[in-house]
Amino acid sequence: MSGRFVTFEGIDGAGKSTHLDWYVERLRSRGVDVVQTREPGGSPLAESLRELLLHREMSIDTELLLMFAARRDHLERLIRPALAAGQWVVCDRFIDSTYAYQGAGRGAAIQRIAWLEQWAHGDLQPARTYLFDLEPALAARRRAAARAPDRFETEDIAFFERVRAGYRARADADPSRFVVLDGGRAISEIRVILEQDIATIWNI
Ligand code: TMP
Repeated sequence: MSGRFVTFEGIDGAGKSTHLDWYVERLRSRGVDVVQTREPGGSPLAESLRELLLHREMSIDTELLLMFAARRDHLERLIRPALAAGQWVVCDRFIDSTYAYQGAGRGAAIQRIAWLEQWAHGDLQPARTYLFDLEPALAARRRAAARAPDRFETEDIAFFERVRAGYRARADADPSRFVVLDGGRAISEIRVILEQDIATIWNI
């Protein structure tokens, strides 16, 4: 039996990580064996690449290639073995982040991203993706209260407007995979939607 692959996406500050922790606990309470992970990162090598990606200056192409190098290692060492063993994998960010941040945000060519995607994991895509959508100005205020910013979080509102639009275009193009959630809603309201979605699509 193979497991299920679920991803959480959204601009920095949209609230996805809080909900991801809760979602994983809900699955576990239903007896599902879940691996919780994140990108960039999730394997020892990819976590080292994460440090570079979040804190060192580099060109757009280098950033794009390092994202995929980290993803490839994460897939080989953690995601694919877990799914093959029947575990579920819930990942904080995956390929949609690359289309949104490096593609829409930084302006990397979409065809180039698609080619790298095909090479790195074309046959493996998330079964479900929760996109937390929030106005960039509001997300920036939330981030300011949270922690010291990394190289992405210091980008301006215009950058996050492009990233948000990139995400929404991905969601519009694949409505059966995406659930778009309004990150401005109360935590309890979002939990109700997630709870219903777990029951509907996984039948658990
Ligand atoms: P996090 O703060 O949600 O852990 O994510 C780290 C940053 O990495 C976030 O600002 C978005 C960025 N990122 C990309 O730009 N492209 C990608 O493909 C991924 C996975 C993350």
